[in-house]
Amino acid sequence: MARVFSGIQPSGELHIGNYLGAVRNWVTLQHQHDCLFCVVDLHAITQSYEVSSLAQRTIEMAIGLFAVGLDPQRAIVFVQSHVPEHSELNWLLNTVTPLGELERQTQFKDKAQRQESIPAGLLNYPVLQAADVLLYRATLVPVGEDQLQHLELMREIARRWNARFANGGGFTFPEPQALLSTAKRVLGLDGQVKMSKSLGNTIGLFDTPETIWEKLKPAATDPARVTRKDPGNPDICNIFTIHQGFSPAPTQQLVAHNCRTAGWGCLDCKRVLADNMIATLTPLRERAQQLRAEPGKVSDTLRAGAAKARALARTTMVRVRRCMGLLEGAEA
Ligand code: TYM
Repeated sequence: MARVFSGIQPSGELHIGNYLGAVRNWVTLQHQHDCLFCVVDLHAITQSYEVSSLAQRTIEMAIGLFAVGLDPQRAIVFVQSHVPEHSELNWLLNTVTPLGELERQTQFKDKAQRQESIPAGLLNYPVLQAADVLLYRATLVPVGEDQLQHLELMREIARRWNARFANGGGFTFPEPQALLSTAKRVLGLDGQVKMSKSLGNTIGLFDTPETIWEKLKPAATDPARVTRKDPGNPDICNIFTIHQGFSPAPTQQLVAHNCRTAGWGCLDCKRVLADNMIATLTPLRERAQQLRAEPGKVSDTLRAGAAKARALARTTMVRVRRCMGLLEGAEA
């Protein structure tokens, strides 16, 4: 059984990009592997954020994860800041991380551009991400395509740490691999850039049927399809990508055929998609609603998850500290 780790920021609602790109995969993986899934609140604070709502957004993200099917009996689900070893390992890994690599990260460059003053935390973001995964010596990391560069850096950090500190002492960090889903990059409703809460181009996983339809109606399709009679190309249509996430295979074939032959207009295609999305998402929305009524239970589950994660994290840290030559006694 491989060890799997992944994380999600509590920076907003869970949307269908997160779901199709990563989280749905997590639900499957929990039946096959030894899994840890984390709400990464320490990552979320590297950009400006609302202090008064962070805790609530953290709980809401956890509710979302349980509602889509993460099962605390099968996977360890917890909040990053509840396991302080993430921050400790982050610091230790900073010492082997090349500054140039951090400055080259596209996510850093994008986010830094949008900020007047750049906090060091934003630069070190991928080191904390490396700490998240390496702390549990996880080898599989199910993520969307936008995380691949961070994964590459994570492997580099593991290699450098091993080269400097492993000393043949039997302890090394394995180099984690990314695990991509078939929907590794879901575009936003504008059809231009990746679906992202900060860009306001999302369909929320718990949007109501009415909202789903209102958002889908004006969503971008194949730009070459100007009139109803023009044939379209499903391979370059974001609506078709979303069909692949929500519609059964025979429907996908029908949709592709009717698009290529202009048998259907884009609105016909979207109506079928809306119906399939609503059928999949309604039970998840209802489950989230039930969980919201019992926030105490969700907090308890997260606390229990953090206790399990922390036991694993402590074991790693004892060995890491020893390999790095730190004076023993930290456990006291
Ligand atoms: P985050 O919170 O931005 O997104 C969570 C997961 O959703 C995927 N995703 C997408 N996939 C396809 N299409 C999209 N439009 C889309 N939008 C988001 C992301 O790729 C991600 O897998 N840095 C990470 C969180 C993190 C992490 C980790 C991940 C912290 N530590 C350790 C893996 C391992 C992030 O910001 O994800």
